Amino acid sequence: MEGKRIKVAIPKGRLLKDVVKLFSSIGIDITDTEHSRRLVFHYPKYDISLFLVKPFDVVTYVKEGVADIGIAGDDVIEEIGGNIYEPLDLGFGKCRLVVAQREDFVMEKDILMLKVATKYPRITEKHYSKKGIPLDIIKLYGSVELAATCGLAHQIVDLVETGRTLKENRLIEVEKIMDVSAKLIVNRSSYNVKYSPINDLISKISSVLED
Ligand code: PRP
Repeated sequence: MEGKRIKVAIPKGRLLKDVVKLFSSIGIDITDTEHSRRLVFHYPKYDISLFLVKPFDVVTYVKEGVADIGIAGDDVIEEIGGNIYEPLDLGFGKCRLVVAQREDFVMEKDILMLKVATKYPRITEKHYSKKGIPLDIIKLYGSVELAATCGLAHQIVDLVETGRTLKENRLIEVEKIMDVSAKLIVNRSSYNVKYSPINDLISKISSVLED
């Protein structure tokens, strides 16, 4: 039945490989998402459709109910916000959101304005507000480490996975803000309307995560 088809927002980029693996482990082959420029994929056989979106946009699609469920990291969930249901930690995409700076950066006691570059202005604002330091948040869209290296900002707030990018750009981690991993997220009203197929999918995923 078309009305009960589950619409799933999945992230392009780093997480996609693990998402494809996860779906394959529950018998759903979505490998074509890795080799195409299409953005919508219909799988009538499995009663699902996929939307391939930027990681930051997954939460928006789910929040607005255009997608019933999605896969997103805690960083994005926290940054975009919204009343969504998070039933499962998927166990991949593990990294952490940190404050980092140049190895030789020394914070002056009477600093007038701390410049912090990040893709996460909301999380950054919230984190620094506890410290009471006047803040100038510089919103960037990638390669955030460069901002600290070349002096655009005093500090950065960014993801660290292996730590290689920090190290190769002579930066050090000074504080962890949050641990991050991929979560299954669900639109609350979709969960009511399509309870049975969504719950089946959650159960299937949950059983392979336990293996
Ligand atoms: C992410 C993140 C760091 C890097 C961390 O960037 O923003 O730059 O990975 O990984 P590491 O600790 O294993 O070195 P990504 O490659 O996703 O691209 P971006 O710089 O465009 O955000």
